[in-house]
Amino acid sequence: MPLNTPIRDWQDKRVWIVGASCGIGAALAEALAQRGAQLALSGRRPERLRAVASRIPGSTAIPLDLSRANSLLPALLQLLDQWGGVDVVVFNAGSAEPLSAVDLAVEGARIAFEINLIGVVNGVAAVLPQLLQQGAGAIVIIGSAAGYRGQPSALAFGASKAGVINFAEGLYWELMPRGIGVFLATPGFYGARERGSARISAIEAARRILDGIARGRFEISFPRRRILSMRWIRLLPERVSMRVLGWFARA
Ligand SMILES: NC(=O)c1ccc[n+]([C@@H]2O[C@H](COP(=O)([O-])OP(=O)(O)OC[C@H]3O[C@@H](n4cnc5c(N)ncnc54)[C@H](OP(=O)(O)O)[C@@H]3O)[C@@H](O)[C@H]2O)c1
Repeated sequence: MPLNTPIRDWQDKRVWIVGASCGIGAALAEALAQRGAQLALSGRRPERLRAVASRIPGSTAIPLDLSRANSLLPALLQLLDQWGGVDVVVFNAGSAEPLSAVDLAVEGARIAFEINLIGVVNGVAAVLPQLLQQGAGAIVIIGSAAGYRGQPSALAFGASKAGVINFAEGLYWELMPRGIGVFLATPGFYGARERGSARISAIEAARRILDGIARGRFEISFPRRRILSMRWIRLLPERVSMRVLGWFARA
């Protein structure tokens, strides 16, 4: 039995994507529009949002900064005014600025946490009362396999994604009995070259996320081989797992 109610039919579904102006978010928006969904697109830069919205007839662009809690409610109210409800909210916005121990900029870490973790909490806090009132709907959170284990030069990104994975898991257990789905996508190095395997494009990442949602999965992770090895490493004795992680970090 699937962990979430599968979503296969997107016709007329009201979908709000936060972080929709490029990358996975824009690819998801275009894929969902092709499947008949109604789209609202958010991000900080209005001109980039408008460029995506111009390719999706009927979509609404609502600029906002996810890290500012007070920008969420006006956006939600605008949507509710237009749609009367919302079916699926995707929190895709993320900051991937590298951060290493030898150049530990607290400000850079704070920005990563404010977008990748606090931003998701801001967004969920804003939409949850509406979803609970509806007694239906789904939240999709885009995390990262970088949150599984600590990696060099990703000190803030990895830690913030570890937090969001944990947050999504807790959320799932609380919201599932209330009829609200929680999906967590954990791409592993999408867009980056991986040893012996093809580069995954944003379009392919979006396709895999929608495929996971259609199967009612909780966690949707890819590329499969990399993810399986990351999970397998967790089961090894610490001395071995840290060596293998070091090998991955240099790969
Ligand atoms: N790329 C990877 O290899 C990779 C790997 C694993 C996981 N991920 C995760 O997958 C998601 C998408 O990644 P991507 O590479 O496709 O991202 P991307 O191309 O950098 O796009 C990020 C989107 O989020 C928006 N955004 C950023 N900060 C925001 C904020 N504070 N408020 C509202 N919108 C904001 C951006 O628009 P504005 O800048 O205009 O706001 C943009 O639309 C992210 O959560 C990322 O951490 C990516």
